[in-house]
Amino acid sequence: MITLPQKRRRLAQGLVFLLVQALLFLVSVGQATAAKWDLSLPSLANTYKDDFMIGNVMNPNQTTDDELTAMFKHQYNLVTAENDMKPQYLSSAKGVYNFANADTLVNWAKAKNIKVHGHTLVWHSQSAPWLTTGEDGKPLTRTAAKANMEEYIHKVAGHFKGKVISWDVVNEAFDGGTGIPTDWKSVLRKNSPWYIAYENGADKKKGESGADYIYDAFVFARLADPGATLYYNDYNETDAWKREAMALMAEDLNAQWKKDQRNADPNRLLVEALGMQAHYWTANLNVNDVEATITRFIKAGVKVGVTELDIPYGSYSKQHTTPLTKEEERFQARLYAQLFKVYKKYANSIDRVTFWGKADSQSWRGQGSPVLFDRTFAAKQAFDAVIDPEGFLEAN
Ligand code: XIL
Repeated sequence: MITLPQKRRRLAQGLVFLLVQALLFLVSVGQATAAKWDLSLPSLANTYKDDFMIGNVMNPNQTTDDELTAMFKHQYNLVTAENDMKPQYLSSAKGVYNFANADTLVNWAKAKNIKVHGHTLVWHSQSAPWLTTGEDGKPLTRTAAKANMEEYIHKVAGHFKGKVISWDVVNEAFDGGTGIPTDWKSVLRKNSPWYIAYENGADKKKGESGADYIYDAFVFARLADPGATLYYNDYNETDAWKREAMALMAEDLNAQWKKDQRNADPNRLLVEALGMQAHYWTANLNVNDVEATITRFIKAGVKVGVTELDIPYGSYSKQHTTPLTKEEERFQARLYAQLFKVYKKYANSIDRVTFWGKADSQSWRGQGSPVLFDRTFAAKQAFDAVIDPEGFLEAN
């Protein structure tokens, strides 16, 4: 039997336990909300104002965060929607478009005088199935896919006309190359639903193939929004084969456009810029390869954009999951400094450098601590390295 004093003691013990739990909870909440952006830091955008635009990603639900907005305005002058301008989010079915979230972001940017880059019109991933695939799950014909693409780009690029300065028209079309290609079409991603649909009904005798979707996409984008700079965008762009494939494609499509009757301005290129996604890893980033890619793209006659920069610690196959030590942070920061030295050298040809993540805690590869601000939003050594690359490398 439990006596009254025993009961009281147990009750008291229970209360103490609850009190301790509540205190621990409050401390953890306190830590989480202690993350704060430091507005007294130097501005990245201002530091590079004579070189190129500096961008970062946003999600529409972040636009109501006033502190984050103030930080963004302080550090960046260009924004890319991390997801909300991809076909998957804009169009759930033929004839159905939902611009609400993307508009929230675009209106936020406009109110803050931040420019917007459109990402992305034609991609194998995060696409809208109706564009390329029938209700029976089979690929559409080339003719049907082309009509859908025209409708989609007309609608979407038309909607954002005058509101975006540029578009990633086609994203990540290459795959699987090894040796240096002489024919860019040979190293395209053959299992892209766009490639498959365009191949379905292609007249090989006329030279048609699945590759033709890329030219069409650029032409439709130019006609829908002649004011936007048109990009082709890809990752692993520092691989020798992909760098060459991207450059060859731009040269070829631009030559084709010169002879195209729809071309109202013979002096203007169709593929005006090549986007280097710049999703690197600390374990294997070679800055000489970055420079070789930039110079090859310049030789192709186009501008260069650094479109999704981040450098998580480790490598793709051996990902790092613990917070960075000071020494690891320094190693990463040195890479950022080396990159920005190269970017400055070619600033005349570089439109913009966009980071893919504002803080490590908000990044798609967050566990590798890839960006300039940490989980408490404090500036990492990488931030100092970007602000003053030469100074950082001398001191480190
Ligand atoms: C990523 C986003 O960051 C993630 O939130 C999403 O889950 C998947 O897509 N290349 C691109 C970007 O062009 O659109 C991708 O963004 C990262 C790789």
